[in-house]
This record gives sequence, structure tokens and C-alpha cells, in this order.
Amino acid sequence: MPPVSPPLSFNPAGIELDRRQGLTRQLYEALRQRVLDGRLVSGTRLPATRDLAAALSISRNSVVRAYDQLYAEGFIESRVGDGTYVAQLPTSEKLSTKVSTGLLTGLSPALSTKRVNSSEDLDPEVIHIAGLARIKNNFLPSPPAGPPRAFRVGVPAFDLFPFEVWAKLNGAFWRKPDLEQLCYGDPAGDGRLRGLIAAYLRSSRGMQCSAEQIVITSGAQQAISLCAQLLVEPGDGVAVENPGYRAAGHAFALAGGRLHGVPVDSEGIDCQVLNTLGDCRVAYVTPSHQYPLGVVMSLARRLELLAWAERKNGWIIEDDYDGEYRYSGAPLAPLAALDRSARVLYVGTFGKVAFPALRLGYLVLPPGLVGAFTRRRAVDMRHSEVSTQSVMAEFMAAGHFQRHIRRMRRAALSRRNALLAGWPSGLPGVGELPSVAAGLHLTVRVDSLAREQQLLAQAVAGGVEVNGLSSYWLPSSATPADQRAGLVLGFAAVPEAAISDALARLRAAWQG
Ligand SMILES: Cc1ncc(COP(=O)(O)O)c(C=O)c1O
Repeated sequence: MPPVSPPLSFNPAGIELDRRQGLTRQLYEALRQRVLDGRLVSGTRLPATRDLAAALSISRNSVVRAYDQLYAEGFIESRVGDGTYVAQLPTSEKLSTKVSTGLLTGLSPALSTKRVNSSEDLDPEVIHIAGLARIKNNFLPSPPAGPPRAFRVGVPAFDLFPFEVWAKLNGAFWRKPDLEQLCYGDPAGDGRLRGLIAAYLRSSRGMQCSAEQIVITSGAQQAISLCAQLLVEPGDGVAVENPGYRAAGHAFALAGGRLHGVPVDSEGIDCQVLNTLGDCRVAYVTPSHQYPLGVVMSLARRLELLAWAERKNGWIIEDDYDGEYRYSGAPLAPLAALDRSARVLYVGTFGKVAFPALRLGYLVLPPGLVGAFTRRRAVDMRHSEVSTQSVMAEFMAAGHFQRHIRRMRRAALSRRNALLAGWPSGLPGVGELPSVAAGLHLTVRVDSLAREQQLLAQAVAGGVEVNGLSSYWLPSSATPADQRAGLVLGFAAVPEAAISDALARLRAAWQG
């Protein structure tokens, strides 16, 4: 019998904690960093929480919380009755251990000025006429209008927004405007707001970002569109999740990108397929809550995706559109927090915490890209309107934002529960409801496209808004039509009573 090698064990010497700062986060970061840079290899046994707490002279609770977070993110695993070990992750040589210099960009300094010279159809929904990309008439159906209804997708519980607080802050801004603020400002956005966003992302997402890396945009859509304009040359391959957020695909297609729809499995975008796409250096993903399937990208997949970008000298656009909404477990570290080679452009929005029409979002850029993005924004629109930025900065600085996030998370959870509790289960041809750990919507599979269309038509007749999963796929998808079928339901837009009422109407429409 071959000798059994004893498990590697970890020596906590070298971990230095600053007692004036949060100990849990520092310990979590120190351990995570050691896993990522290979100092702690897969299979290494971690000390028991009591022992590590004693070795570092901190409370056991701090260690338990740090372990819990690492466990939730997949960095460590526990073996029943046998302690805690570093998890099996992609081999560390595939991952970069170098710290970003922020100098590498690979970005065309002159920005993209190439045009397609023929009427070649680079994407089925973009036509090129006289060298210019045009959108087909039916390209981007408008989002549904009218007051929020069950089960509108992409809308938070904005009936709970503290409008009086906002009005007061807005009034204060305009009553005594700072004249300097009313001149042309920084194209990257209001400096105070950028600083507050950076601080928020450092504490809520573990991102090591600074105000200088942030560019304020008019919502996530404009951030994605800027990425398309600056990272994509006509004819370049762009990987998008399929099914996915079609409006992102439209932005890349309009910039001349050739869209490659990459399947999504239970761990997120399929990196094996991504690795086969030779012409592709840009990938757009929604890791914290895949849109629309709702999958949370696993840590292993996050690391594989980062390794892909590093190998390709490519870019990952990480759309964290609804990252505030997580109902169980700690949130996973965004790709941008794991990125060691400055390949991730992180997109955030206030639209899912405040309300969509606010049109306020941001990009967190690798330092080397900030200049190009800022210049492009200056040419497009100088900068975003000043009062919304300034009022949001005050809203954040005074603590209203954090309070509001907590309120919105509670409301979305309760509305989610109302949908799950009242859902008409057992409908012919309709799959089981998924468990919903994050986000503002859920997706249910349906057996066939014909059945999906029938359910949608009946829902419309009953006055209820439900989306078909089939509309989230690229038109060129190889996936058979029946496997694209499903229902997508937003659960946060209206209060519980309206959800129950809509469910009663759906039951009447679907069960006759
Ligand atoms: C996945 C995803 N990304 C981005 C957006 C756009 O957000 P914004 O309203 O901030 O442009 C949405 C809107 O629903 C979305 O679902």
C-alpha cells in the first residue's frame, strides 16, 4: 500500500492584523490572498477556529466569520469530523499572482475609428449601411411602460424609496448651489460621489478600488455601451452569456462586435466553450446573479474566467446589476475583487436600489483604462448631470443609502417569499421553482416553446406581466427551441398583496 501523505498544514505566522480595523475582514483577506497566490495550496488543513484565534490573539467569532465567508465563496471546504481544508481550485499556475501595475491596457489608444465598409451583417440584428452600423427597427423592444406591475423584471421595490429625504437633499442642493459645481465638471463624475462609491465597494464587495478608478455613467446600460465603444473593433468576437441580457449584446453588436453566445450551466458561463473561441477577447458576464437564469457563478468558474482573460490579454465586463440582493449566505467576491491582472471592468448601477429612471451608474476600471474612458465620456456628453450625483453623494454620506439597501433587501425577500408561497405548482409542462438565493427575479423552465407561448398569452389575457425565457436567447442559438423555453418573473416590483392578487389571476388563467 502506498504511504498516505499527511495533509499539509498551515502556519499562521506571518498574518499581521491591525487591531484598529475589522479583524474578520483582514483575516479573510489574508487567507484568501494566500489561496490565490498559491501560498496555501489545495488540501492544506486550516487550524481549528479556536487554535487560530489563540494563535492570532483574536476572538474565535472573528475566525468563524472569516472562515464562513471563505467557505461561502468556495475557497475552503469542511470535511465532516475532519476539519477545514483549502478547496480544490484551478491550479495556481493558471492564475496570476502578480499585482496589477495598472499599466497594461491593450486598448487602442486612438479609440475605435474603424468602420465596416460593406453591408456585411455582423450580428443578425445590426445592419451596416454605407459603412455605419444601424439598429433594425425591432432591435431593442422598449422596456414595458406604465406603473410597476407583478411580475415585471428588472424593477426593485421602489415604492419604498425615501422620496422625502431625497427631496430635502435635492432642495438643499438647489437652494444654495455651489457655483463652482455648476460649471463644467470632471467627465469621470463628481469626485465626492466617486470616493463614496469606492468606499462602499471596498466594504460591501471587498474590492480594492479607489475613487480614481471610478467613472460615473447614466446607468449600467451606458457603462456597458462605453465598454463596447472602447474595447471592441468592428469584426472582433465578443462572448456573451446565452441566454443573457440582450441589451448588452446589442451594444457590442452596434460597435461591430461578432456576438458569440456562450452557454451557461449551473456554475455560470461555460469556460470550456469560451476557450474555443479564437477571435474573442471580450466577455460580458453577470456573475453575482446570471441574467436571466439566476445562477451564481462558482468560485472555480470565476478563477477560470480570470485565467482566460489573462491568457488572452482580454477583458471581462462584470455586470453586477443586482449584487445588493443576496438572501442567504455571504455574497461571493466579485471578479473585480479577485482580479490580479487588471482585466476586469466592473459595472454597477443605482437603478436596482433606488429606481431605474434615476439613470445613475458607474464603472470601476483598471487604472490604465480610466483616461481613455474619461476622454470618451467628455466627447460624448461632457459629464453626467450634477445635481443627481451630488444628491446621491449626500444620500450616501448621511447613511441613507445603507439603510435603504437593508430596507430594499428585506422587501425583496418578503416579496420573493410571497411569490414562492403562492406559485401554482404542478402546472403541466412547467418545471419546479428554483431556490432563489439572490436577485430580483426567478426563472422557471417550461417543456416547449409552444407551451411557453400559451402560458404567456394566458397571462396577458389575465392582466399579468410575465416574460418568456425564449426572448433572452441570441437569435442564432444552436440550442433547440424547446430547450430555450421558460418563464421569467420579477418579484420585487409590487407589494405582497399585489403579488397574491396577480397569482390568483394567473391561477385562474392557467388552471381554468
Ligand atoms: C443584467 C442587467 N444589466 C444592466 C441593466 C441596466 O441597468 P440600468 O438601468 O442601470 O442601465 C439591466 C436592467 O434591467 C440588467 O438587467
